[in-house]
Amino acid sequence: MNILVIYAHPYDGSFCKGILDTVVPAMEARGANVKVKDLVKMNFDATMRPEDLKATVTKTYTAEVQQEQKDVLWADAIVTICPIWFGSVPGFLKAYFDKVFITGFGYDYTGGLLQNKRVFSLFTFGSKDPYLTLANQYKGIEYLWDNIFSMVGFKDIAVKYFQGVPRATDQERAQYLVEAIEFVDQIYDKKLGEIGQIGAGELLVKLVIEGKLVMPTVQIEE
Ligand SMILES: Cc1cc2nc3c(=O)[nH]c(=O)nc-3n(C[C@H](O)[C@H](O)[C@H](O)COP(=O)(O)O)c2cc1C
Repeated sequence: MNILVIYAHPYDGSFCKGILDTVVPAMEARGANVKVKDLVKMNFDATMRPEDLKATVTKTYTAEVQQEQKDVLWADAIVTICPIWFGSVPGFLKAYFDKVFITGFGYDYTGGLLQNKRVFSLFTFGSKDPYLTLANQYKGIEYLWDNIFSMVGFKDIAVKYFQGVPRATDQERAQYLVEAIEFVDQIYDKKLGEIGQIGAGELLVKLVIEGKLVMPTVQIEE
């Protein structure tokens, strides 16, 4: 099993780093080959540049994007670890998917080019319920993940939320780390497609494949 971990946090003292340092050995202990992408440490260029967008037509990717695409193809599962900022993922994580899953590599208007992959995402929040539910923060993540991962063909989209992280006690944090391991254990314990997707992505792709719905297309001039 090949697992690509995409880690998006700038601070080594974060709880996200604690999650990273916990789940990587846990997945390796179950036999996974794990590659970690620490987007800040690798200085991933989070700007969509003209040449990046042109690649939808030219299929010529920058060396940086090409390397990430190779690793995405290598992976059976992607694990993401990040904090929630303003109800969403950090912009530089979104930029990774914008650039790497771009039309022609990931997105293709007909259900996606990255079939039979899975994503397992762990998110930390500063706030707690009922605020998070009332502010639609879980829904926001789920809509976003549905629009990214089901549109490129992923079969499973699994999410795990950790609330109130900055004020969590040591005991609560220890429990969160146990839950983080249980969450990634699903990569081994649940079959491809068993978790399924969130939102309407799967239905939309089915309608497109059956010719009942046309995906909007984007024309880019060379
Ligand atoms: C720019 C910014 C925006 C934030 N927005 C939210 C938010 O919308 N909802 C929330 O629950 N916490 C928010 N937070 C708090 C972080 O999510 C929280 O501190 C973090 O998840 C704690 O985990 P960490 O130690 O891994 O950073 C925000 C923090 C920052 C820096």
